[in-house]
Amino acid sequence: MASSPPGPGSGPAPKAARCCQGCHPDCSMGGAGNGGIQRVQDTFKAKDLLITPATVLKEKPDPESLVFGTVFTDHMLTIEWSSDSGWEKPHIRPLENLSLHPGSSALHYAVELFEGLKAYRGVDEKIRLFRPKLNMDRMLRSAVRATLPEFDKEELLQCIVQLVKVDREWVPHSTAASLYIRPTLIGTEPSLGVKKPTKALLFVILCPVGPYFASGSFNPVSLWANPKYVRAWKGGTGDCKMGGNYGSSIFAQREALDYGCQQVLWLYGDDEQITEVGTMNLFLFWVNEDGEEELATPPLDGIILPGVTRQCILDLARRWGEFKVSERYLTMNDLIVALERNRVKEMFGCGTACIVCPVSEILYRGQTLHIPTMDNGPELTTRLLDQLTDIQYGREESDWTISVS
Ligand SMILES: Cc1ncc(COP(=O)(O)O)c(C=O)c1O
Repeated sequence: MASSPPGPGSGPAPKAARCCQGCHPDCSMGGAGNGGIQRVQDTFKAKDLLITPATVLKEKPDPESLVFGTVFTDHMLTIEWSSDSGWEKPHIRPLENLSLHPGSSALHYAVELFEGLKAYRGVDEKIRLFRPKLNMDRMLRSAVRATLPEFDKEELLQCIVQLVKVDREWVPHSTAASLYIRPTLIGTEPSLGVKKPTKALLFVILCPVGPYFASGSFNPVSLWANPKYVRAWKGGTGDCKMGGNYGSSIFAQREALDYGCQQVLWLYGDDEQITEVGTMNLFLFWVNEDGEEELATPPLDGIILPGVTRQCILDLARRWGEFKVSERYLTMNDLIVALERNRVKEMFGCGTACIVCPVSEILYRGQTLHIPTMDNGPELTTRLLDQLTDIQYGREESDWTISVS
């Protein structure tokens, strides 16, 4: 596979060698480490999967009592990569701690990315994944941005399907719960050099998760809007699911809690654009400046995470054709003027975890803005939740799901 980076005094890399590990700034091989396009060198294949079953199986918890992301299933998928050998065979094996060199680049420079999707057990007992190809697309885009190795998205999806099959009994027997799937890719090269890693590990772990809203009714959230923190910026990595975006957001989230709010409303720029809510995309259903009924969400301009749920909501609403659907900028001023003129109907966050989450209040510059989402039903938010869960739990046939069982 790739030739080793030249050692000190060994001269420039020969032109024919495959390099691009970011080992020297004048590298002309056009790899991601050099800011160019990373080429697919090889991929793992689902047909090569090795399966080592766990000998002791854990007891399954009651889904109602689960705290998100704290209970893990019996198995994990691991796939190792190195620039010398490419991808190893994928391996499904008992869940266990990783053994990492303390110099691994994921630990020092957050050379890592992750995904989040779910498997649902339907009313017909079939297990379905919901639009997983969108997650695979996003994961590959994040890998390129993180200078981590590329892979064949379909092969990874097939490996994940096999993992879910192995742990199928962990998919809750409930149409209010699901199995959260967390694919992750980390740089594992034992080197403190800030560069494209020559070793990586892709792994997938699974967590059963309970209902987001206890007792089946919506709990609206209050938001803290303060321009002093930004989640993402133009030219940054906000449109990728890279760990660094999230670790650095926790400080602002803590401050939101101190102010009695549940989530951060992330603002951006001098005009205080409304971008995202916590770790969710944001939608505003309103009568816009031109008197049109409109469902609006910020455009994918590099600072917005291209959410799968966001895409589904846009697709559904466009299919319904009942009101204008826009990807457009929204500012705090737009919102305040609309609130003063009673033009706001509903505001909600959306994401895989909650699907949709109504917003009831925003604390902004010492003032609490009442958002009338719950006063209006919330009609649209509920309709979207119903439609999406009908598809996820097999009450409605859709080509958005793929069947595992
Ligand atoms: C910053 C951010 N925005 C939006 C979302 C929603 O994305 P999805 O609908 O794919 O879960 C997420 C998901 O975790 C996120 O981290």
